[in-house]
Amino acid sequence: MITIKSEREIIMMHEAGKLLASCHKLLKKKIKPGVTTLEIDLFVEEYLIAHGATPEQKGYRGYKYSTCASINDEICHGFPRKEPLKEGDIVTIDCVANLNGALADSAWSYPVGKVSTEAKDLLTVTEEALYIGIAQAIAGNRTGDIGQAIQEYVEGRNYSVVRDFTGHGIGRNIHEEPQIFHYGTKGRGMRLKEGMVITIEPMVNIGSWFSMLDDNGWTARTVDGMLSAQYEHTIAITKDGPLILTSQDN
Ligand code: MF3
Ligand code: CO
Repeated sequence: MITIKSEREIIMMHEAGKLLASCHKLLKKKIKPGVTTLEIDLFVEEYLIAHGATPEQKGYRGYKYSTCASINDEICHGFPRKEPLKEGDIVTIDCVANLNGALADSAWSYPVGKVSTEAKDLLTVTEEALYIGIAQAIAGNRTGDIGQAIQEYVEGRNYSVVRDFTGHGIGRNIHEEPQIFHYGTKGRGMRLKEGMVITIEPMVNIGSWFSMLDDNGWTARTVDGMLSAQYEHTIAITKDGPLILTSQDN
C-alpha cells in the first residue's frame, strides 16, 4: 500500500531528516584511518538518542546494529566491526532515524584518509547519480523515469548500477511501497504523487553489478571484488518538486 503523507507528517519526517543529516556531517570529520565502524555505530546511536531519536534499523528484521557499514567491495548491509578502517578504504554508513515516530533514511559513502583516483571518481559519479535521480522525483512522473535517468548516467560513465537492492517508500515503516529501481525505462512504473515520500539510494559498482550475499545472510558484496559506493536521500514529492528531507546543505 502506498501512503500519502500530510503536510504535518512531512514536516515531522523532515525533522528526523535534518537530525540524520547533521549526524552524517559529523561523520565526515570522524571517519579516518584507525577508527572502527563499531565506534561509528555507537557514536550514531548515542547521537540520535541524545537528540530524542532512536536508530530504527536496530532490531529491524533481526538486524543488530544502528547503522550498516559497508566497506570497499561491500555493497550494502555490512555489519559494524572492531577492525579499524584503513587509509584508502571507502565506507558507506546507512542509518534510519526515528524521531517521534517519523522516519528518515540516508546513506553516505566516505573516503578514509587519502583514497585512489579510482575510488574518488566512483564516489563522485555515485553522488551525482543520486541527484540526477532526485531531479525526476516530480509528481506526475513515473518511477521508471528515476530509474532510467540514473542508469543512463551511471552506465554512460562506464560504471554499473546494482539491481538487487532498490529505493522504497518510507513513512512509519522503513520499507513501504513503491519500490524505486535505480535502472529501468522512462514512462514505466508507478506514477509519483504529491505527498509520497521515497528514498533514492543508488549503489554503483566499478565492475559488474552482480552481487552475492555473505554467510551472515545480510551483507551483499560485488562478485568481482571491485569497489561499490552508495548515496541515499529521503525525498518528499511536493507541489514545488522534490524536497530532500535528509539534505546536508544547511
Ligand atoms: N537503510 C536501509 C535501506 O535503505 C535499510 C537497511 S535494513 C537493515 O533500505 F535492517 F539493515 F537495517
Ligand atoms: Co533506504
